[in-house]
Amino acid sequence: MSGSTCRLRDLVFACEQRAQAYDLPAWLRAYPLARCAAFRFTRDPYYARLAALVELLGAKQVMEFGTEEGGSALALCMAGAQVLTYDLDPAPLRRSRLGLLEAEDRLLPLQLAAPEAMLQVSLQGVDLIFVDIDHSGVWEAAFHRKCQAEYTGIVAWDDVQLNRGMRTFWATVTEPKVTLTWHFSGFGLVQYGSQRTATWAAGAPALLPRAD
Ligand SMILES: C[S@@+](CC[C@H](N)C(=O)[O-])C[C@H]1O[C@@H](n2cnc3c(N)ncnc32)[C@H](O)[C@@H]1O
Repeated sequence: MSGSTCRLRDLVFACEQRAQAYDLPAWLRAYPLARCAAFRFTRDPYYARLAALVELLGAKQVMEFGTEEGGSALALCMAGAQVLTYDLDPAPLRRSRLGLLEAEDRLLPLQLAAPEAMLQVSLQGVDLIFVDIDHSGVWEAAFHRKCQAEYTGIVAWDDVQLNRGMRTFWATVTEPKVTLTWHFSGFGLVQYGSQRTATWAAGAPALLPRAD
């Protein structure tokens, strides 16, 4: 196992530990949208682990592809990062009423005109990328090539074991990576570019609910 893969495994372990301190439902109670039924699934430890990943990487700017109702975007926001989240269809997010976080500039939803537009987005200044799109494996593979060419940092890929297309895409990834069961359909972390030297120690909790 390469040194980078060991470091990813250390990161995974630290996230799993740290996630136990996260209480997404409690955090959401500080927001009126907590009453929105769409967020019942924030009880899934998967979302707390996403939040812990942001915290432990010290990520300030997170980019997400695949917003849908905003469940994962919300988790990525929780540790204090600003989340730019892209989708082809803005309707599910609009329905889920995440406007409150938008107003705080924590969540910046952006619409892509077509799947290939994700290949034109600048990754400059982005500390962490999360990809959870159509799971064909086709656009995932194309975006992976973009990351190989222009990104240094960690990309989190959801559903890497979901179907044949995703498994095929995942098998082509030769960068340091870990395959996890954070999600039933598989979840992976890949380190692109040169390694970071950060240690994965949790800092001060960034989980305080908003004081209204
Ligand atoms: C599985 S859902 C995302 C779920 C969300 N990440 C969560 O965990 O709450 C997938 C979303 O990806 C969007 N999508 C599909 N292809 C895309 C692309 N190329 N770029 C951005 N979003 C895409 C779909 O419209 C859909 O809303």
